[in-house]
Amino acid sequence: MNADQPTTITAYPNGPLIVRGPVELLDESGEPIVQPRRAVAICRCGASAIKPWCDGSHKLSGFASE
Ligand code: FES
Repeated sequence: MNADQPTTITAYPNGPLIVRGPVELLDESGEPIVQPRRAVAICRCGASAIKPWCDGSHKLSGFASE
């Protein structure tokens, strides 16, 4: 990842937060979470089986962001 690249976080309607660019994600112990891709989807509905990542469960759970 290019450290000069700006990091953006986009909240998708009724869906996850999409993080693009360099960012360090840490678990509750402060250990780094390996990012699988350059852009990742972070669950904000609470229904994902692979938290912190979004697995698409927001669609089935009827999550509404508003
Ligand atoms: S936002 Fe997609 S599973 Fe939670």
